[in-house]
Amino acid sequence: DKSLRQTADERGFNFGVAVDPDALRNDVSYRARVRDEFNTLTPENALKMGPLRPSPETYDFGDADAIVNFARANDMDVRGHTLVWHNQTPTWFQPWDYTDDQLERFLREHIQTVVGRYRRTVDVWDVVNEAVADDGTMRETVWYDAMGETYLDRAFEWAHEVDPEADLYYNDYGADAINEKSDAVYDLLERLLDRGVPIDGVGLQLHALGEWPDCESIAENIRRFQALGLDVQITEMDVAFPAGEAPEDALQRQAAFYRDVVEVCLDTGVDTLVTWGVGDANSWIRVFRDFSERYTGDPLLFDDRNRPKPAYDAVIDAL
Ligand code: XIL
Repeated sequence: DKSLRQTADERGFNFGVAVDPDALRNDVSYRARVRDEFNTLTPENALKMGPLRPSPETYDFGDADAIVNFARANDMDVRGHTLVWHNQTPTWFQPWDYTDDQLERFLREHIQTVVGRYRRTVDVWDVVNEAVADDGTMRETVWYDAMGETYLDRAFEWAHEVDPEADLYYNDYGADAINEKSDAVYDLLERLLDRGVPIDGVGLQLHALGEWPDCESIAENIRRFQALGLDVQITEMDVAFPAGEAPEDALQRQAAFYRDVVEVCLDTGVDTLVTWGVGDANSWIRVFRDFSERYTGDPLLFDDRNRPKPAYDAVIDAL
């Protein structure tokens, strides 16, 4: 039988996975799955500001380099995640220590350094992550407070100057189907495009936790972003039931949802889908207590021992 990677390669589809550098180094079965089953990698944490910046003056590229080098050695694409976010900033980073101008310079220097280092090795950047709040207003982050909405304009412009070849994405959760939040993301991206900001696409995270978005609505949502001239990718997919409510046929229902989403991708011309982890044992849902209490902790294509689940067969079948 053909692996997921072979099937995706033949289809010209980018099927990706979020990876952890320690597991990639130390866990043989994990490493083999990543290499054999996927053709695109997203560092799950290694390119975020916190992990990259041990102190104000220094960068630690060790983990990110390990992932990017592994991807290149195995002929995979890399999604760089993420340059600007309100979460996972370094612990030493206290915004009130900086003036607005200093924050802007700090962000510019960060983007120029990181994008510059991975020029021609990172294919796609999630330049800005989660800038819109759940109610559709702009999220009040350190960057928004310092620069207003133009922090997005500048971030995309700086990244584009350093690597004009890279595809630059806006990425968010809960904006997968048509809803209040995706309306707000749509309006935001339309404003950016009107201002001539160099943005190529929108990443829909698709963390289907508890309530799963409706696939017809996802397709409609994808099409309206495409009509703006943007590419769309599914960037962080996982699929969980509410804790304690998983039905008997949970694995089959999960597989059916994965299949439906792959079909939406093929129908709409979306060529990239990334799952947020290899096996269930590595899923972020397991790690956070409030999450693991709310949702079932088996949201991925491979089980606790990295063996394929029904969802794995379903996505191959759909491709
Ligand atoms: C998560 C990682 O999976 C965890 O390991 C980390 O502790 C917190 O961040 N949206 C995103 C991702 O854009 O970066 C998040 O990843 C999950 C939600």
